[in-house]
Amino acid sequence: MEFQNKVIDEALQGSATVLEPKNLEGRKVYIESYGCQMNFSDSEIVASILTEKGYVTTKNLEEADVVLVNTCSIRDKAEQTVRQRLTVFNKEKKKKPELIIGVLGCMAERLKTQLLEEERIVDIVVGPDAYRDLPNLVAQVDEGKRAVNVILSKEETYADISPVRLLSNGVTAFISITRGCDNMCTFCVVPFTRGRERSRNPESIINEAKDLFSKGFREVTLLGQNVDSYLWYGEDGLKKNYENLSEEEKAQSVTFAQLMEKVALISPQLRVRFSTSHPKDITDEFLEIMAKYDNICKYIHLPVQSGNNRILELMNRGYTREWYMNRIDKIKEIMPDCAISSDIISGFCSETEEEHQDTLAMMDYVKYDFGYMFNYSERPNTLAQRKYKDDVPQEVKSRRLAEIIAKQNKHSLERNKAYVGKTFEVLVEKKSKRSDAELAGRTSQNTVVVFPKENYKIGDYVTVFIENCTGGTLLGKAVN
Ligand code: 5AD
Ligand code: SF4
Repeated sequence: MEFQNKVIDEALQGSATVLEPKNLEGRKVYIESYGCQMNFSDSEIVASILTEKGYVTTKNLEEADVVLVNTCSIRDKAEQTVRQRLTVFNKEKKKKPELIIGVLGCMAERLKTQLLEEERIVDIVVGPDAYRDLPNLVAQVDEGKRAVNVILSKEETYADISPVRLLSNGVTAFISITRGCDNMCTFCVVPFTRGRERSRNPESIINEAKDLFSKGFREVTLLGQNVDSYLWYGEDGLKKNYENLSEEEKAQSVTFAQLMEKVALISPQLRVRFSTSHPKDITDEFLEIMAKYDNICKYIHLPVQSGNNRILELMNRGYTREWYMNRIDKIKEIMPDCAISSDIISGFCSETEEEHQDTLAMMDYVKYDFGYMFNYSERPNTLAQRKYKDDVPQEVKSRRLAEIIAKQNKHSLERNKAYVGKTFEVLVEKKSKRSDAELAGRTSQNTVVVFPKENYKIGDYVTVFIENCTGGTLLGKAVN
């Protein structure tokens, strides 16, 4: 899921995980984040590591001593956006030469020393597994050196770090449960930038969720590139195949379904979400657990990428169209009210018109509630870049994408219209953008609902009768 161009700015909101600085330098750090939810979550880990050392976060670029940009490499456009921001930061540095600029995340990992040594537009380069080294890297820059750490780890999960909740509404928060990805989808740069998949100690996950709940948070989203392959079987988090575990390891192990149950049991008042599910790995056992607990939100992001078997094979997705449809049938059988969304790539290498039609037909079959849809963007050194030609012309990719988007918009509107006349429990997250007299929250199915505020407040669960809708939002009023 993409959240491009959002700026993580502030800082230590409310009473949420405010850390007592140990060595107060009072240096101001400004952090911007691009890309997936995992990046936003990682920035909260980075903020925690730095505030522990006495830094304070700021939302003002002008007053920053250190500027960090947490980057995304998933498509070329994401990298271009970051490059534009680096230009802006370098203008700032012209005015204030002591300003330290650091690049974090996937672009740092992918380009290694390029931004530092060849392009000379940053002072620090830090990959996703090296954030603990950041205070040290800043110290190196203080000594006049340029600093880099892009070592990927097989163990690092930042399990012991309490994230500083940046831009928090005090109600919803992300918790990372795995890092990295072992799937090797041929189009994807993530296995190279985020390294091997590893699972985080379940105890630290549960404790983080409990701590959030005690601070007033009412929803946690468990994050991983492929949450279904979460598997904990002891101190070393690197995934092994369940079948290869010893009997003792099996007895101690925690699967994703078991982890979800543990989090759901913290309190019926704590909603649990998760992202991203993988069609090849999502199990019936997990769906049963989902159905069993009302506080596990009835929403699954299950990226299909393509509806055609030849393309799925070229993408190395590990499932067929028929397998995917079976998973959808199973979800609808076990949870008829469950919302489903998808990621779709238009114009992957050698995709024909008929194969594109298969994707549209898949959309008609599932009728996704939401969709995240992209033109294929060739990424350097991925398997697809090495093995296949990026041969679908740009205008064909874009026309196919427009067809995919039009279909999704139609389905989203139809789904929202079907919700009109029904009531939903809504967790209130914020004031509505339109007016201070209205609140906004989401249903279990992840649809945004706006309704008149009356005496309700952020963090409340409110039963709302839906009177009207747009393609993206339900409009209603609270019922007693
Ligand atoms: N080009 C276009 N889209 C991509 N994604 C991943 N890699 C690429 C790429 N090279 C999409 C996939 C994935 C989502 C996070 O981004 O649909 O699920
Ligand atoms: Fe990339 Fe595939 Fe891993 Fe998702 S599952 S991060 S698309 S390699």
